[in-house]
Amino acid sequence: MYPESGVTTVAESAVSISNYSVPDEDLPAFTDLEFEHINELHLDHPGANDPEYRKRRDYIASLAKNFRETGVITDVEYTPREQRVWRYVAEELEELQQKYASPFYLRAKRDLGITTDRIPQLTEMNRRLKELTGFRLAPIEGLVETRGFLSWLSYRTMLCTQYIRHHSQPAYTPEPDIVHEAIGHIPMFTNPNFADFSQFIGHGARIANDRQLEELGRLYWFTVEFGLVEHEGGIKAYGAGLLSSFGEIEHAFSDKVERRPFLLEEVINHEYTYSDMQPVLYVVPSYAELKEVTRKYIESF
Ligand SMILES: [Fe+2]
Repeated sequence: MYPESGVTTVAESAVSISNYSVPDEDLPAFTDLEFEHINELHLDHPGANDPEYRKRRDYIASLAKNFRETGVITDVEYTPREQRVWRYVAEELEELQQKYASPFYLRAKRDLGITTDRIPQLTEMNRRLKELTGFRLAPIEGLVETRGFLSWLSYRTMLCTQYIRHHSQPAYTPEPDIVHEAIGHIPMFTNPNFADFSQFIGHGARIANDRQLEELGRLYWFTVEFGLVEHEGGIKAYGAGLLSSFGEIEHAFSDKVERRPFLLEEVINHEYTYSDMQPVLYVVPSYAELKEVTRKYIESF
C-alpha cells in the first residue's frame, strides 16, 4: 500500500511517541475510517475493461468495507486463476530477491509463511506479527490519502488491499494489491526497528503541518517503498516497491541508478516522479539507524 498524494487534511495538535506497543483496546474504531472514492478502478488498469475482474475486485473490496463495520477480517477464497497469478509473480520475484533482497527480509518472509505456493491471508500473517512486533494488518479497498494512511502506522497498523492484479499483465499493477502488500511490505514489519520506525512516521503524520506531511511522504517513498540497506559491505533492497517489482529491483542495482548514502535532510527534500523508474535511491546503514534518525526528526515537529 502507498498513500495517494494531493489531498488536503488536518493535523492533530500533539501526539506522544513514548509508548510503542498499542493494545487492541487503544485502537481507534475502524468504523471511524471515512474513506471516499478509494475503490475506483482507473481506466489505465489492465482489468478496467474486464467486467468479471471488476466484479471480483469489487467483491473483495466489499470484504474490507465489511471489516470496518464488524472489526472481523474475512479470509478471501482466492480462485484458481488468482492463485496462478500469485504463483507466477511470487516465483519470479523469489529468484530476483535471492540475489538482491535484504537477508532479514528473506528470513522474515519464511517466518511469516509467505510462500510461492498460495496467496497468504491477512489473518494468518496477523497472528505471527502480533507475536513478533505487535504490528497489525487491516484490510482496505484502495488508495488512501497520505495523512489518513500514514496515521494508522502510529497504531502499528498497516492498511492492506486483498485483491490481486489482473491476469493479463501479472508483472504490472498500477495500484497496490496483495502481491505488493504481502511480498513487498508485510515481511519488514517483523523487524522491531523497522516496526518502530514505521510507527514514528505514523506519529509524525498525525501532527505534521502540510509541508512536513509532504516531507514524510518523501521519507516513506525513499525508505518503505524504495529503500536500500547496507549489508556486509554490499547493498540490499528492503523497499516494497523494489521487492514486489521485477523491473524496479533489477533497475535499482543497475548503473542507471545513483545509490547515495541516506541523509535525512536530502531525502525529505528530494522530489520524485511517481510513475518513472527512480534515478536516485538512498542506502541506510541499518534499520536501527533509520529508526533513530526518524525519531529525532519527528520529535522536532
Ligand atoms: Fe506500497
